Amino acid sequence: MPTIRFQLNGAAIAVETDPDQMLLDVLRGRLGVTGPHFGCGANECGACYVMVGDRAIASCDMPMWSVADKDVTTIEGLGTAEHPHPLQRAFIAEQAMQCGYCVSGILISAAALLKRNPSPTEAEVRAALDRNLCRCGSHNRMVRAVLQAASELAAS
Ligand code: FES
Ligand code: FES
Repeated sequence: MPTIRFQLNGAAIAVETDPDQMLLDVLRGRLGVTGPHFGCGANECGACYVMVGDRAIASCDMPMWSVADKDVTTIEGLGTAEHPHPLQRAFIAEQAMQCGYCVSGILISAAALLKRNPSPTEAEVRAALDRNLCRCGSHNRMVRAVLQAASELAAS
């Protein structure tokens, strides 16, 4: 099997894999990176999102060959318990989650948005989170949290 090399959360990774295997399976099953979740497996829910460059992408629908030489960020690369990302702090402050299953994908969509557009409007935040489903119905709190994080980042 070929070796595919890419950057994962800032570290160089080389993984021997079937090039058609999906990134989500490699992340969770081979690399122990369990932040991205399996939801639908069909690019319809956002639970598995990772950031590739400055875009949120469904890792359940991303074959390994398409990851070669790319820069991939998962929730594990966003912040830590000791040093949370402003988005993570804002989600906690706004209590913007219930079960939490969707949240890693939503934080990735939000982080990708803030990378491209550091001062989004509420409509732009809603559009950026539009492809992420939350069965707990926490979207309004999440939108508030993203706007709060954006203003914190703008002030820093
Ligand atoms: S599990 Fe990938 S979009 Fe739903
Ligand atoms: S917080 Fe439960 S699915 Fe979003």
